[in-house]
Amino acid sequence: EKGGYDHFMLKEIHEQPKAILDTYRGRMLADEGIIRMAGIDDHINKFMNAQRIIIVACGTSWHGGLVGEYLIEEFARIPVEVEYASEFRYRNPIVTSKDIVIAISQSGETADTLAAIKLAKSKGAFVFGICNVVGSSIARETDAGAYTHAGPEIGVASTKAFTTQITVLTLIALKLASKKGELSKPELSSLLQKMQLIPGKIENLLKIDDKVKEIAAVYKDAPNCLYLGRGFNFPVALEGALKLKEISYIHAEGYPAAEMKHGPIALIDENMPIVVIATNKGHYEKVVSNIQEIKSRAGKIIAIVTEGDTQVKEIADHVIEIPETEEALTPLLTTIPLQLLSYHIAVMLGKNVDQPRNLAKSVTVE
Ligand code: F6R
Repeated sequence: EKGGYDHFMLKEIHEQPKAILDTYRGRMLADEGIIRMAGIDDHINKFMNAQRIIIVACGTSWHGGLVGEYLIEEFARIPVEVEYASEFRYRNPIVTSKDIVIAISQSGETADTLAAIKLAKSKGAFVFGICNVVGSSIARETDAGAYTHAGPEIGVASTKAFTTQITVLTLIALKLASKKGELSKPELSSLLQKMQLIPGKIENLLKIDDKVKEIAAVYKDAPNCLYLGRGFNFPVALEGALKLKEISYIHAEGYPAAEMKHGPIALIDENMPIVVIATNKGHYEKVVSNIQEIKSRAGKIIAIVTEGDTQVKEIADHVIEIPETEEALTPLLTTIPLQLLSYHIAVMLGKNVDQPRNLAKSVTVE
């Protein structure tokens, strides 16, 4: 049932090219610059008139929501807020019928997210769901939605659910952008063509497994680890840290790279590994200077860079290359080595990768 892999998590990491393909296939015609999503098409006026989009979710799905915020604001120019469902439901939030609430959940059963949806509905908002499990409580409770087609996710640590959520959010952002006239047909078509190359690029990226294993062997005994990223890759840094915490029990934190100097930099010494996402278009020069600041304090740098990078390579202790793509699509690639890194560290430490202590696959109680 694990298809020849040692763990469900590794199997699910490797299923991502297909999961992403299954998620966008049938929803887009790249060459024509067309995105079809019934859940949006059927309610297009609601989306066009939305004053604001509020995304509610927990855990990894919340990280997916943060990527969604960057995507929707960048392309569709609609204001987006991302909230932890558990906070949203109890803080008497201001929600009206002019708001659209997007709830994101792999399982579709997360208690806090379900309660946030009920609250938003009671205040008149239109609620759109992004779920993986078909017919789940959240899928049934929402007014409309789009499924991720990741297939069953068994490993407790979420992997393919995250990248397929980002895929759906990308389609939503681009669809709304094109409807609003923020994106021309040729621009949309070009982005969709780049999206079509993503599964193949992940397939290639998965071949770096041995290199990631070598890096894992060097840092597996570290008590702490920092993850830094900017822009679209800031949420990926948070997700990388969560993956390491969950399955290896190493304390890890994700930060926007520029926040370093506001506190976390005090933690850096020669024993601190720092994973930095430094893709070539996303504020590259700024990230390079963040890396220099870390290096001058003797921190150990594991950098995720774009193929052909030269500048970061000179400073970093380890470099993992991802294939070139549009900056907005890089989270689909940068996430992969971070998943593999936490997987290998957890395996080397002898942890129960698929069922980490104290965690359940779906949190149906608050
Ligand atoms: C992380 C993880 C959790 C879930 C969270 C939300 O690997 O598994 O953080 O992401 O419990 O679950 P769903 O998406 O099912 O609502």
